[in-house]
Amino acid sequence: MATDKNENLMEKIVSLCKRRGFVFQGSEIYGGLAGTWDYGPYGAELSHNIKELWWKHFVSSQENIFGISTPTLVPEAAWKASGHLSGFTDPVVECEKCHHRFRADHLEDKKVCPDCGGKLGDEKAVNLMFPVSMGSSGDSVAYLRGEIAPGMFLNFKNIIDTIHPDLPFGIAQIGKAYRNEIAPRDFLFRVREFDLMEFEYFVRESDWEKYFEMWRSEMHKWVERVGINKDMVHELEVAPEDRAFYSKRTIDFEFDYPFGRKELYGLAYRTDHDLRSHSAGSNVDLSFFDEESKERFIPHVIEPSFGHGRTLLAVLVSAYREDVMGDDTRVYLAFKPAIAPVKIAVFPLLKNKPELVEKAREVYKTLKKEFGAVMFDDNGNIGKRYRRQDEIGTPWCVTVDFETIEKDAGVTVRDRDTGEQKRITVEELVSYVKEQLAN
Ligand code: GAP
Repeated sequence: MATDKNENLMEKIVSLCKRRGFVFQGSEIYGGLAGTWDYGPYGAELSHNIKELWWKHFVSSQENIFGISTPTLVPEAAWKASGHLSGFTDPVVECEKCHHRFRADHLEDKKVCPDCGGKLGDEKAVNLMFPVSMGSSGDSVAYLRGEIAPGMFLNFKNIIDTIHPDLPFGIAQIGKAYRNEIAPRDFLFRVREFDLMEFEYFVRESDWEKYFEMWRSEMHKWVERVGINKDMVHELEVAPEDRAFYSKRTIDFEFDYPFGRKELYGLAYRTDHDLRSHSAGSNVDLSFFDEESKERFIPHVIEPSFGHGRTLLAVLVSAYREDVMGDDTRVYLAFKPAIAPVKIAVFPLLKNKPELVEKAREVYKTLKKEFGAVMFDDNGNIGKRYRRQDEIGTPWCVTVDFETIEKDAGVTVRDRDTGEQKRITVEELVSYVKEQLAN
């Protein structure tokens, strides 16, 4: 029986993440560094699995999307050329009395300080990028990238010259972005250092609407594949005055987070803005020669962009469940098996029976070899072991009991979501889990 999960959901998720080793405050022992978070063992697995699934969905299973990986340091000249030094800003207001600063676009009343009631000053555009002094004299300036897209534009010519793709094609990467957010908040939602999963899809100008629609529908498929509740995702056509400076059309994919409906992903039509401005800024020709039509032109770009931390948070919100099982209320995370940090946990029925422990270790080793993320647990009673695995979202718990060794009757497998158990051989289990992980 499901219980109401929405009351204090955010507090429950943050507390579970800390208690079970998913996410900790960044630099916690020094009082925490605002806008940074550390992933613990289960969080790092979950994070890695989401990236791997994204890569599989949008890169390795596509015929014409090429993955790259580029540095987080990008020279000032590139940001100047692309317009980020002037345009990559947030509107900020400061209270004249308490000097607290706020995002103007997040305030209902832009005149009165929400903290002390003081008068708010004029709105200013504050650049979000972190400058870095480089070299021993420190007089060479680079910026930690505020978005990862420049890596794809700066490598456009390298990909053309080495892979020789036809249009349309994409360049993708996953990597860190840094933004000096004025007000980091809401756990992983608004942070200063985060991973982005993104690709630039290069098309003929006349085709942009077709491919915008194609990726729009593919983004919805991804939402379901990663385990985000699709009924909590809503599209928002972004008004011209709210779009990023480089975009001619943007659709935000918003998610119903416990703290409100907010941006999860973005889909933008960046026109030929970036290739054209980097061509001008670098004096390197970034045009494309179309062998078929014998034309040379600068391709246009469709950009589907996926915040990794926001994905992880939306996955946690979608997966969090409370129900009553037997006499207990339990909490479990109904992760899709492909992203679950632990796929299978193996238990001996009793800890003090060496023959059960030995057989359970043998089963554990077999499964670990097949699936990697498999855990052995003999602490406490079976009920407690189930609860621990439910809380970290392990899809299957396997128990070795007396029938396993006395009658060679296989093991029992318990399903996380239903709590149902069935007896199955280890070989059958391996094929079943493989099938589930492929989905
Ligand atoms: N290249 C396009 C781009 O960077 P964006 O809308 O500025 O577009 C892309 O950011 C995605 O990055 C957003 O849809 C969101 O998922 C995530 N994101 C943006 N700012 C963030 C922040 N401060 N903390 C966490 N994620 C953020």
